[in-house]
Formats: sequence, structure tokens, C-alpha cells
Amino acid sequence: MRNSRIAGVGHYVPERVVTNSDLEKLMDTNDEWIQERTGIKERRFFEPGKDTNANMAARAARMALERADLESKDIDFIVYATISADYMFPGSGVLMQREMGMEGIGALDIRNACSGFIYGLSVADQFIKTGMYDNILLIGSEIQSSGLDMTSRGRNVSVIFGDGAGAAVLQPASASDKGILSTHLHADGNFAEELCVIEPSTSRRSVRMSKELFESTDIYGYMNGNLVFKHAIVRFSEVIKEALQTNKLNEEDIDLLVPHQANLRISSYLEKKLGLQGKVYHNIMRYGNTTGASIPIAMSEAWQDGLIKENNLICLAAFGSGFTWASSLIRW
Ligand SMILES: CC(C)(COP(=O)(O)OP(=O)(O)OC[C@H]1O[C@@H](n2cnc3c(N)ncnc32)[C@H](O)[C@@H]1OP(=O)(O)O)[C@@H](O)C(=O)NCCC(=O)NCCS
Repeated sequence: MRNSRIAGVGHYVPERVVTNSDLEKLMDTNDEWIQERTGIKERRFFEPGKDTNANMAARAARMALERADLESKDIDFIVYATISADYMFPGSGVLMQREMGMEGIGALDIRNACSGFIYGLSVADQFIKTGMYDNILLIGSEIQSSGLDMTSRGRNVSVIFGDGAGAAVLQPASASDKGILSTHLHADGNFAEELCVIEPSTSRRSVRMSKELFESTDIYGYMNGNLVFKHAIVRFSEVIKEALQTNKLNEEDIDLLVPHQANLRISSYLEKKLGLQGKVYHNIMRYGNTTGASIPIAMSEAWQDGLIKENNLICLAAFGSGFTWASSLIRW
């Protein structure tokens, strides 16, 4: 069975920069607390009327296609990871497809939050392995800012998240020891309500929307920060080790770890624990946590900075809502 490889990566972030001191004007928080607890200095927020989840994805996709030396007409299938799709339905995969003039090919939306890009990578990899498709466009795109409680009440969540999009083009690899070596996917639904947005729910009452709902905190993200932190550091380490063991490789073999940018303290802990000093990519200080978009944005920036080169062993790892967690090892 053939392997798949990433032939090109791209990203787009909205122009509007929101600094920690901008947030200080809206809620009881401060730059020092945010930087010390999360590493974040600033993030990007979308501009209504200009950016949509799907058009940010299209911009990232065009960059990935150009770097892969392909055109949109070459793509056979779209896998689109997002938890902030433009509409309740349809998914944003079809909206991006329309924007890019790729009508007719299949478009699959994936809702696995921070692990969504790696889940999508695994799906795309299987389609290429079986020979079903040759060129797949994989997206991670999120607009989180419009769902944040920008008052002191929501400060533990709203200072963390940002908007942006990333893309990767997958193709068959030239050899069995190249490209995506493995993907590892996990979930534990016992923690579903520890990091979630519950409303508007389809099943909590006979109508989805009500006037009271606008006053409810359930329309905003809830995060049990301490619990998420504790689980994240364990699951990240486990799933990276699982990937290494499966491929009979060691931590020293990794050239670059691109973790989901959840929190600088989590990534720095991993860097130390796994002995990967100087080999972990961080950009959370500039973009905050962009959920499903964070890994492809980080990968695209790392690639353009020359940190991902031919034959390098790249490890991707994620943890997030669900809880879900995942990893992948890629021989570039
Ligand atoms: C969210 C997180 C940064 C909070 O850090 P923490 O050290 O756990 O902080 P706590 O929630 O215990 O809060 C400590 C204090 O800071 C306060 N605080 C919370 N948010 C604040 C903010 N934005 N600004 C200032 N103070 C804040 C709390 O009210 C609390 O005050 P108190 O001691 O007077 O009660 C941390 O739990 C975390 O990083 N969790 C993982 C988050 C994550 O990775 N999420 C994404 C997963 S995909």
C-alpha cells in the first residue's frame, strides 16, 4: 500500500492584531497574567465582512497549492477540520470548494476541535493509501473570536483563543519509508463537558433558540482549565511515545515537534520531558490557540522558516475538546 506525503503547506491569519493590552480594556485581566500562564502576547481576530472561515481556508489553500506546484483543478477531495463552521449546516468544506471553483469533488467536514487536523490527516492518508484519491486538500480553519465572552466573566477562556487557517496538500509518497509513517487517534467522551460550547443545543429543549439563551453563559466556551492542563500533558506525551514506538524510533530521531499550540507551558513541559530542547515549534505568542488551525499554521510557518527540510522526521501532536488527542510521524 502506498504512503501519502505532504506536498505543500500554507496558512492565512486575519490582519487585525489584538494584543493583551487591548483585552485589558474589555475585561479584568493583564498582560503579565496572560503571558505568564499561557505565553500569548497577541492573537488575530477576523474582520466581519472581510474574513469568513471558508475564505480564510481558501487563502491558506492557495498558498499550499502553489508550494505543491498544483492548481485547484488537480484536487480530488477536500477534508476540512473546523469547530467554527460559517453555518450550522452545510459545513465550510463546500463553501471553500465553491470559493475555489472546485465544484463536484467530495468535501468532508471534521469536528474534532484541536485534534481535528490530525484526525483529518489520518482520513486523507487512508484515502491515498487505498488508491481512492491522489490529491487531497486538508484544511484546519477557525473563527473563535465571535464566540468568546469578552467580559471579565469569560476571561479564563477568552484570552486564549484566536482566529486563522492552515492547509496542506497530500499526495502519494515516492517510497514506503517516506511521507506519513503513522497516525494515532484517541478520544474519551467522559470529559465531553470539560471543554465545550453547549448552546444552541439541538436536544436540550424543543426549540433551539430562546430569548433567555442570549443571557446564558452556555452559549460561550466553558473550559475546566486545570483539568484540561493535567490531561493534556499526560496525553500529549503518551501519544507522541506511541507514534515513536510504532515506528521503532526514539525521541532523539525527531527533528521537529509541531504540537497543537494550546499553551506555551504545555509545549515547554513536553520539550523538557521528551528531551526535545530547541526542536519544538512555538507560535502561540503571536496567534493564541487557533484550535484546529493551529497545527497547519505552525507547520506552514516552520516550513517557510526552513525548519522543515527533506528527510526530516516531523512529529505532530494534539489534545483538545472531547477529550480527543492524536499524533502523526512524517518523514518529510
Ligand atoms: C486556563 C489556564 C491558563 C489558567 O491557569 P491556572 O494557573 O490554572 O489559573 P486558574 O484557573 O487556577 O486561576 C488562577 C487565578 O487567575 C484568575 N484568572 C483567570 N483568568 C484570568 C485572566 N484572563 N486574567 C487574570 N486573571 C485570571 C482566576 O480567577 C484565579 O483567581 P483566584 O486565584 O483569585 O481565584 C490554565 O488552566 C491552562 O492553561 N489550562 C489549559 C488550557 C488549554 O490548554 N486549553 C486548550 C486546550 S486545547
